[in-house]
Amino acid sequence: MSQPINRTILITGGAGFIGSHLATELVEANDVRVLDNLTSGERAKVPEGTTLIEGDLRDEDTLERATEDVDLIFHEAALVSVQGSVEAPLTSHDINATATLELFEAARREDARVVLASSAAIYGHPEQVPIEESDSKTPASPYGIDKLAIDHYARRYNDLYDLETVALRYFNAYGPGQTAGDYSGVISIFCDQAINDESITVHGDGGQTRDFVFIDDIVKANIKAATTDYVGMAYNVGTGQTVTIQELAETIVEVTDSASEITHTEGRDGDIRHSEADISAIQSDLGYEPTVSLSEGLEQTIDWYRQQ
Ligand code: UD1
Repeated sequence: MSQPINRTILITGGAGFIGSHLATELVEANDVRVLDNLTSGERAKVPEGTTLIEGDLRDEDTLERATEDVDLIFHEAALVSVQGSVEAPLTSHDINATATLELFEAARREDARVVLASSAAIYGHPEQVPIEESDSKTPASPYGIDKLAIDHYARRYNDLYDLETVALRYFNAYGPGQTAGDYSGVISIFCDQAINDESITVHGDGGQTRDFVFIDDIVKANIKAATTDYVGMAYNVGTGQTVTIQELAETIVEVTDSASEITHTEGRDGDIRHSEADISAIQSDLGYEPTVSLSEGLEQTIDWYRQQ
């Protein structure tokens, strides 16, 4: 895989789950800078050899310092919780949308390529699955609205200002390093509950489906986006395979040999019923292929949780 080499790279949210894996992949051959306010990110996740700038993207001086002389930016910093955005839409907009626009402006000044973490949440409740990039977009949460705005901006910054941008619409990312918390991804929460023999909390009837994509494949998609000639584009990053949340809970109980019971709580506001990526565009343009199946990925993830 052709990798960026000898570039000055900024990874926003580089102390977080996806950002820190990207930093690890890139740090050997590049000068990697991480900007993170350590709200949900952790200092310990930032690999050695990386320069950590601790601060907020919304702070003008910090942003200027972080973007000075950069060639390439991976924008992973976000308030990633759909539920959190329902509780605090203004905060979500401020962090996920406005701060990203500030970053685009800085990228313009530096003429740096931006690989943007967009999201499957922009599609809202899809009319059909799998979802193609051109399908209708009616986000069901403030988070989805904010991500849709920046996904549009990424493409318009390419047409209007010739900025090189690629938006990656992540489906549900998971893997080692995704710390469990009230607002983190469902796999991290279920693994944590199963390992501790606590009850597993399925929201609603559990019939909702997700396309879970392993962290290594997310990293590969980012590396491809960093070097592709297809700029001004937006791509789904998923696997094209889905599982229901109920099946996911049952699988995790089985694989961890847990005594946990599966319980059902009320469905979540802003929750999407079905989500599944059509990945033919990223396959043909960027040569991306998902390489890790859900069972393999779960195994690696559970091993990691056991070590924590
Ligand atoms: C996730 C990401 C979001 C990303 C989007 C893309 C997180 C925290 N959110 O949103 O950043 O843009 O995918 O598709 O990673 N659930 C339970 N019990 C729990 C927790 C969750 O049943 O304890 C259910 C939820 O109701 C939902 C599903 O699991 O139906 C997935 O939830 P979650 O992992 O929070 O992700 P998304 O909302 O899909």
